[in-house]
Amino acid sequence: MNILIIGSGGREHAIAWKVSQSEMVKNIYAIPGNPGIGKEKKVKNFEIENPSIQDYIRFAKSKNIDLTIVGPEAPLVDGIVDEFKKNNLKIFGPCKAAAQLEGSKSFCKEILNSGKVLTAKHETFTDSISASKYIKKQNMPIVIKADGLAAGKGVFIVEEEETALKLINDLFTGNADGISSSVIVIEEFLKGEEASFICLVSDESIIPLASSKDHKKLNNGDTGPNTGGMGAYSPTSLIDEKLTYKVIKEIIKPTLKELKNRDITYSGFLYAGLMIDENKNPYVLEYNCRLGDPEAQAILMRLESDIVEMLLSTVD
Ligand code: AMP
Ligand code: GLY
Repeated sequence: MNILIIGSGGREHAIAWKVSQSEMVKNIYAIPGNPGIGKEKKVKNFEIENPSIQDYIRFAKSKNIDLTIVGPEAPLVDGIVDEFKKNNLKIFGPCKAAAQLEGSKSFCKEILNSGKVLTAKHETFTDSISASKYIKKQNMPIVIKADGLAAGKGVFIVEEEETALKLINDLFTGNADGISSSVIVIEEFLKGEEASFICLVSDESIIPLASSKDHKKLNNGDTGPNTGGMGAYSPTSLIDEKLTYKVIKEIIKPTLKELKNRDITYSGFLYAGLMIDENKNPYVLEYNCRLGDPEAQAILMRLESDIVEMLLSTVD
């Protein structure tokens, strides 16, 4: 088989490393890949300047690609899966509508609330006057999120009301470190310990991968601003068997059901970012429509199955 991997990070390196071990695979192409990925067996990196979905499709056709694996969220949210399918090309990942679980925090909250899934209380705002009024009635700390994708940088945990009010203004006017948003979500600050719960989902079938946890803060000693993750480990003792069943029953299944009610079928990795409180109640902080980075690096090292067989079975 010929495989195309889209992406350039550590996660895509982990995927390429694991895919290269499959006896079913002859050639692996990575766009754009990275120097580490290029050193793996069977792998060739390819650079396309500002690739569009149509560029990927042309590439997949020209190299007789049997399966495309999408690493990062942006192409999924842009609808790469839908376009590949229209061209009868096999691709692993959720369709555009399903990827909105990650692409839009307000859509995610709508699904969580209608499925009665535990999550932080929140309100969505499109203007700074009503957002500021709301802030003044809340306890601090508070969490302020830009809607849409921001590569892990669109979430702010704010300790003081004054800072929160300024941030809201800055987000609406585009002055918050280059992040701007016409929609912001303000939510209560949840206390507890975080874990990443990633499953392989194909319609109603759910297979949890090993649990994992990433280190969010930039600096040593768990200090500094949040990042997309500075490192990861797997498993985490936080997620035992009992909690795994609870998360599947009370979080993943109702989420898929709510999507189904909206005529959306999920296929791909579904990653629930959880906050687990002191009573072991799991709250959803966010959904991602892909493997975590750097969680994939820890999880795939431990995976014994042939990943290509897993992904192909999901697609089929
Ligand atoms: P998100 O992109 O929504 O997962 O947020 C990124 C990170 O911000 C999370 O992994 C948490 O560390 C933190 N965070 C987000 N929402 C909350 C919340 N409601 N309470 C506490 N921390 C949060
Ligand atoms: N490590 C967090 C993420 O992949 O979103």
